[in-house]
Formats: sequence, structure tokens, C-alpha cells
Amino acid sequence: MIGFFDSWKWWLLVMQEFQSYFPNIPMIIEMDIENCPYGNKDTSEIRSLTKAWVDRLFARWASVVILACNTASVHALRWLQQEIYPDKHILGVMIPGAEKIIEMGYKRIWVLATEATVRIRAYKERVHFLDDSIYIEEVWAPELVPLIESWIYSQELLHTHLSSYIASFSPDIEALILGCTHFPYIKSDIIHIWNSTHNTPTPVIIDPGKESAKKFQQWITRHSIVLK
Ligand code: DGL
Repeated sequence: MIGFFDSWKWWLLVMQEFQSYFPNIPMIIEMDIENCPYGNKDTSEIRSLTKAWVDRLFARWASVVILACNTASVHALRWLQQEIYPDKHILGVMIPGAEKIIEMGYKRIWVLATEATVRIRAYKERVHFLDDSIYIEEVWAPELVPLIESWIYSQELLHTHLSSYIASFSPDIEALILGCTHFPYIKSDIIHIWNSTHNTPTPVIIDPGKESAKKFQQWITRHSIVLK
């Protein structure tokens, strides 16, 4: 059984990606709506909150836990894997997102994420670990998470914020990593704003949740795991 954790309801988008590849594996979820957003918290708070939800998922018999939340992935994953649960399987979404950049050969990248994710330069470090010639700009978008969570939001306000983020980036970037589980939800708005404000080609959008699902089969095979 795969257990998913996100700080908000967007485990749903990540889980749907996994379901499309693994329709027969049972999946369970936990989310922390009460403490969301994680993106404005420090590492120790993100770790202790994430650990509590991971504990619950293992207590519910998850054989693998996926941290669908980017912020939890970059602040808590390695700590959980190495110090808390060295004998269990926990995966995050950041590394598959960063690896996709290398696989596709993109050289100019934009990352849109939460403050906590950008603060520790997680995507930048991982991409540069794999290829330090890649140009990478990271921006945090504090207005977007609460706006998307409010469900009934003004499209105009969303577009105003997106326009200012998009305007701050180099027009010749090739790929954009959506480094927050909320952002795939507004992917079409991002493309729309880009196309209405730029003459340059639309960057390829990388969704780390989707990339994680694609890589999961390789991971299962490598670890000889049977999930049921
Ligand atoms: N789930 C978080 C992420 O993917 C975004 C929301 C939050 O700040 O908690 O980074």
C-alpha cells in the first residue's frame, strides 16, 4: 500500500498520477490542512509536523510513503530516511523533478515554489549536483498558495500575481518546475499568462509529482518490492 502525505488537498493530483501507472495498488492519504501552509515554516517545524503524518501512514500499514508536498520533501525527507526510519521506504517529489531537467537536456530553468523550498535552494542544489552548467532561477510565490486554497478566488487577482512573477524571469527559459503541489492546479493559467505576455516559446512545464509517479516503477524494481 502506498501512503501519500501533503500539507493540503493536492495529494490528490499526485495520487492520480500514481493511479494512472499503478491502478491496482491500494493507496491511502494523510493531509495537514490545519497547519498548512508549510511553506512559511522553518525546518524543525516542517520536520516535526511531517514526521507525525508519516508515523500515521506507517501505523496504517503503508509500505511506502510518498511525501507529495515539495516543502516536506526538501526539508524532511533525508532526515526521515536517515535518522527516523532507516528501515522503511519514504520517497519525495523533488529529486524526480530535478532529474527530469537533466534527462531532457534543458539548460535554462525556472522554479516556482514556496518560500521554504526556495530558501534552502533545494532544486538548484540538486540540479547543479547533476549538472552545474544549468542556469536556474528560483522564485517563491507567497500569494499563490492562499489564493488557490480559497477555492473561490478572483481570476483577475491570480493573473495579476502570475504576471508579476512571470515578468521577473528571463524570457528565454526552457522549462519551468512547478515546485509546489498547488501549482499544477493553475498550470493552464501560467501558460496563458506566459503566452499573452511573451513572444518567446512557452517553457515546458515540469510537474515533480508526475515525474515521481513515472519513476516509481524503476524504484520498485530496483528494491525488489511487491506492493499489494
Ligand atoms: N504542499 C506545499 C508544497 O508542495 C505547498 C503548500 C504549503 O505551503 O504547505 O510545497
